[in-house]
Amino acid sequence: MLTFDKEVVLITGAGRGIGAAAARMFASLGAKVVVNDLSESACEEVAASISDAGGCAFAAAADITRDGAPEDLVSSVYHTYDDLTVLVNNAGFLWDGMVHKMTDEQWQRIQDVHTRAPFRLIRAVSKYWRPAAKVEIAAGTPRRRCIVNVSSTSGLHGNIGQANYSTAKMGVVGLTKTVAKEWGRLGIRCNAVAFGMIDTRLTRPKEEGATFAVAGHHVRLGVPEALRPSIRSQIPMQRYGTRDEAAGAIVFLASPLAGYVTGHTLEVTGGLGI
Ligand SMILES: NC(=O)c1ccc[n+]([C@@H]2O[C@H](COP(=O)([O-])OP(=O)(O)OC[C@H]3O[C@@H](n4cnc5c(N)ncnc54)[C@H](O)[C@@H]3O)[C@@H](O)[C@H]2O)c1
Repeated sequence: MLTFDKEVVLITGAGRGIGAAAARMFASLGAKVVVNDLSESACEEVAASISDAGGCAFAAAADITRDGAPEDLVSSVYHTYDDLTVLVNNAGFLWDGMVHKMTDEQWQRIQDVHTRAPFRLIRAVSKYWRPAAKVEIAAGTPRRRCIVNVSSTSGLHGNIGQANYSTAKMGVVGLTKTVAKEWGRLGIRCNAVAFGMIDTRLTRPKEEGATFAVAGHHVRLGVPEALRPSIRSQIPMQRYGTRDEAAGAIVFLASPLAGYVTGHTLEVTGGLGI
């Protein structure tokens, strides 16, 4: 049976959406889960729902783009659980705009959350993982450790209005392959999932009014209702993916079922872009 009962999983951006679904799924399979997000209350709500269902979770609110936050977050995981075996770099948001209108800030904020923060988190775990893996390999008792980075079909194929995001999400693929090559000999796997259209506030009708506060702006999230039927019609499976279907791909890549998979980007798209 698939189990994560000896695992500690840190998931960024797990206060809602795909990250929250992944947190619940890992916990239901026995993992201790660290729920990171911007808002304390969102983290605590997800952690409480996991505890109520008999699982084990701890809320660790932090803005992962803040200098020092990735290092503090990883050290708080070790402080609480004295272990970490799976890192899921999931946190993110969109700040769309056409190239000719995109500001430097709009560009940079998206790089910060989707590539710099994952890089810093990976570098932060390296301080714990690399020395431990060397000792374990020498002793003949290697442990499973892995990273799952969240990318997007916008990165793989480009997308109108998303020069900042598609650049960042393709960067995630390069980061993933590089870490896989550097750390493969230590038995540490690093993979990515590229989602297509998953049903979260990023893809819900824009008219529902979800916003994301960044740099004094309230960025409107979602897809205009008028565009949704044509997007759906381009998806061979003719529907958006569910959060659990997205989470399932993350859990699969982190599991022993994918024990010989590294440097891979798994497209979870209902066929979009094939
Ligand atoms: N929904 C989709 O169709 C889709 C498609 C491709 C890729 N993705 C990617 O999947 C990931 C999850 O997105 P989602 O759809 O669940 O969106 P979501 O908005 O439901 O969840 C994202 C979470 O990330 C958090 N977050 C943002 N910036 C943060 C920061 N600096 N520090 C900590 N947390 C932060 C947000 O507060 C939010 O709770 C993102 O990386 C997104 O780009 C989503």
